Amino acid sequence: MSERVKTGIPGLDGILNGGFIKGTNILVSGGTGTGKTIFSMQFVYMGAVLYDEPGVFVTLEERPSELRREVSQFGWDLKHLENHGKIAIIDAASSKAGIPTNEPYALRRGFDINELAKEIYRAAKDLGSQRIALDSISALGVRFDDILQIRTSIFKLSALLRELEVTSIMTTEIANPNQISRFGVEEFIAQGVIILYLDEERDELRRSLIVRKMRGTSHSLKRHPFEITPKGIAVKPVE
Ligand SMILES: Nc1ncnc2c1ncn2[C@@H]1O[C@H](COP(=O)(O)OP(=O)(O)OP(=O)(O)O)[C@@H](O)[C@H]1O
Ligand SMILES: [Mg+2]
Repeated sequence: MSERVKTGIPGLDGILNGGFIKGTNILVSGGTGTGKTIFSMQFVYMGAVLYDEPGVFVTLEERPSELRREVSQFGWDLKHLENHGKIAIIDAASSKAGIPTNEPYALRRGFDINELAKEIYRAAKDLGSQRIALDSISALGVRFDDILQIRTSIFKLSALLRELEVTSIMTTEIANPNQISRFGVEEFIAQGVIILYLDEERDELRRSLIVRKMRGTSHSLKRHPFEITPKGIAVKPVE
């Protein structure tokens, strides 16, 4: 039985037969507003708070200040954990937008995949990190329009995550529910895929998730409704 990493998302570990397999990379894909950022942050935040596992969160789209503010509504105090060396946020968003940053971990001269890899390595080593989230790798596509280059970047990042022996999440945005990933390679690189949905049902949007694959383990094949509550994501028990 492989060692499991608890996700920190209520109701999810049961669906996965105990959590993510330690050391694997999980792709979380979904359309806009489906909860990808909250999901990946909850994994890192709860890892630090509940399981004493330091974590690194790489933000490629939102600036760290926005992120800290957004998740504070769930009672998650990132700054406190950052000050105690339990969480590091890597700002890969500001430089891409051409905005200066004072973050301790950041890209400072535009966007470069090798610089990003170096910064992830540095943060992971500084903290002794066991969890890493990258949100979202779709942002790699804004900079490069060459699909080959994007794929190379994704391969580099995934090799780095394996080298660091962390359990990790990459998020990716998909445009329609029939897609699994943005660039068509992420789902093959990742050992697991979870898809988040927001679908209209009887004049109401409902959230649900499906575990599309999890190499090396059995898992639920059902569609699981979930909610974003004042404490974050909670997967509802299936009736
Ligand atoms: N306190 C809250 N209670 C309930 N729902 C919330 C709360 N805060 C945010 N949400 C929901 O979460 C959504 C945003 O989640 P999140 O940012 O994780 O999505 P995302 O998939 O990362 O979206 P994006 O495409 O913008 O990156 C909001 O659109 C809103 O529906
Ligand atoms: Mg997001």
